[in-house]
Amino acid sequence: MPAPHENRRTFAIISHPDAGKTTLTEKLLLYGGAIHMAGAVKSRKSKRSATSDWMELEKQRGISVTSSVLQFTYDGYRWNLLDTPGHNDFSEDTYRTLTAADCAIMILDAAKGVEPQTRKLFHVCRMRGIPIVTFINKLDRPARDPFDLTAQVEEVLGIQSYPITWPIGSGDLFQGVYDRNQQKVLRFHKGDPGNQKKVEVDVSGLDDPALDELLGAEAAGELREQVELLEGAGEEWDDARFLAGDLTPVFFGSALTSFGVEPFLQRFETLCPPPGDRKDADGGAVTPTDDRFSAFVFKVQANMDPSHRDRIAFARICSGKFEGGMRVHHFRLGKEIRLNRAEQFFAQERETVMEAFPGDIVGLYDPGVFRIGDTISTGGPMSFDAVPRFSPEHFGRLVLLDPLKRKQLQKGIHQLAEEGTVQLFTEPGREKDPICGVVGRLQFDVLTFRVEKEYGAKIRFDPMPYAHARWLEGPETAEQALAMRIPMVVHDVDGNLVALFQNDWELERSIRDNAEWTFHETAPIRAGA
Ligand code: G4P
Repeated sequence: MPAPHENRRTFAIISHPDAGKTTLTEKLLLYGGAIHMAGAVKSRKSKRSATSDWMELEKQRGISVTSSVLQFTYDGYRWNLLDTPGHNDFSEDTYRTLTAADCAIMILDAAKGVEPQTRKLFHVCRMRGIPIVTFINKLDRPARDPFDLTAQVEEVLGIQSYPITWPIGSGDLFQGVYDRNQQKVLRFHKGDPGNQKKVEVDVSGLDDPALDELLGAEAAGELREQVELLEGAGEEWDDARFLAGDLTPVFFGSALTSFGVEPFLQRFETLCPPPGDRKDADGGAVTPTDDRFSAFVFKVQANMDPSHRDRIAFARICSGKFEGGMRVHHFRLGKEIRLNRAEQFFAQERETVMEAFPGDIVGLYDPGVFRIGDTISTGGPMSFDAVPRFSPEHFGRLVLLDPLKRKQLQKGIHQLAEEGTVQLFTEPGREKDPICGVVGRLQFDVLTFRVEKEYGAKIRFDPMPYAHARWLEGPETAEQALAMRIPMVVHDVDGNLVALFQNDWELERSIRDNAEWTFHETAPIRAGA
C-alpha cells in the first residue's frame, strides 16, 4: 500500500491576466469530475479590472473562498489546486501561496509570450526551486512563432525549455500538435468546441509519409524541419533539472476548445512530484512519512462568511496525519492548541475534514491565533523556514479620517496585515501614521473598503513614491542608515529595519555605497516566541 501522500499532487497555476487560467482550471476540473458544466468557474470573471466588481465579489466571499484551494480526484490521484489570483487584486498572499505548492503550471498566451505578472510569480517559484510546467495557450488564434516563444521563456525567465508537444500551425491554420515523445499527432478540429473527437494518429516518426497525407505536404514539411531543429539544437530531457526548476517541459494547446488539455493533464500527473521533504528552521528535513504531524499556515482569510465573521487559516500539511480535534503545538505562541474545526474545499463546497495527509490543504477555523508562516506540529515545538515576506511595490501613508476610530483602525489594519493583504511599516517619530506597502495597487482600494466595512473606520492613503523595500542587515539604528543616504528607513511589524527606495537607481547606489551591509529582498523569518 503506498503511503497516502504518494498520491497527492499539490500545485498552483501562474499566469498573466487573460492568458487563460480560469479556462484551463475549469477544464482541469471538468476532467477531474469536480464540476460537470463549463462555466462553473465563471463567477471569478467579475474580478477583472473594475474595482467595483471586485468589491461586489468581496460581498460574496464564498466565491473567493472556494477558489483559494480546490480539490479533485483524477486517475486515482488527489489533486490540490492552489489559487494564485493573477488579476489586479494580486497581493502578497499570491506569492505566499506558492510556498505551499510542489509544482506550478505556467500559462502563456501564445500571441503574447511572457508578460510582467508571469515574471513576478515565476521569480518566486525560482526562489523556492519549484518545478514548472509550461502550457502555451490559445493556439487556435494567430500565435507567435513557437521558437520565439520558447526562446523568450529561456531569455526572460532564465530557465531552459523542453517542448514535449509542438504546434502544427496556429490560428486558422492550426492543425494540432505533434507529441515528440509518443510520436503522435493530436488533431485539432475547428468548430468542435469540446474537441471531443480527440483524434490521435500514431505515426512511425517524422519520416512517416502518413504525415503528408494527414497534414498536407507543406505543413508536414514545416513540422519536420522544426522538430529536427529542436532535436538538434534543443535541450535534452533531465528529470533532476526539471525537479530543481531549471528545465521546463512545454505543451501547446487551446484551453477554450479543450484541445491538448487531457493529454496535458495525463502527462502532468507524472511530472508533478508528490509532496517531498521540507526544510525546518534548523536546516533539518521533515519527511512526509514522519509520524509526527506538521503543517504551516500560508494564508489567512478573515470574514469569509460575513454572517459569522469567521477567520480561516489555510495550512499545508507537511508530515504525519491530520485528525479533526487533534492537539498540536503552536510554535510562535509556544503553547498547545486544539484544532477544532477544519474544512476542505471541493469545487463548490466546503466540507468538514476529519483526516488529511501531507500535500493536503486544510482550512482551520481560527479564533485569532494564526498568522501567515505559523507552524503547528505534534511531538513538541518545530518551525518551518517556509514563508518569506516579499518586497511590496507600492507604498502609502495611512490617514485616518475619523480620529475617534483609532482603535478600530488598529484592529482592522493588523488583522489585514496578518492576512497578508498589506505590510505595515512605521517611520521612527511618526508611529501614529503607519505606512502601508502592497504588491498590487488595487489593494489600497480593497483596504480602504474593508477597513470601513468590516471595522467601521474611514481611511485614505496618501501615495508615497517608493517602489522597493529591502530588509537591512548591518546598521543598528534608523539614524545610522539614514546617515548613509538611504532615502527612507522604517521598521516592519517585527521591528526589523527596512530601507525604502524610489527606483532601481537609488537602490543600486545604496548597495554600492554600503558594501558591508546586506539588503535582503525578503523579511527575515521570525523564529517564534
Ligand atoms: P485568466 O483567468 O487567465 O484571466 O483568463 P481567462 O481564462 O478568463 O481567459 C481570458 C479570455 O481568453 C477569455 O475570453 C477566454 O475565453 C479566452 N481564452 C482562454 N483560453 C483560450 C483559448 O485557448 N483560445 C481562445 N481563442 N481564447 C481563449 P473573454 O472574451 O475575455 O471571456 P469570455 O467572454 O470568453 O468568457
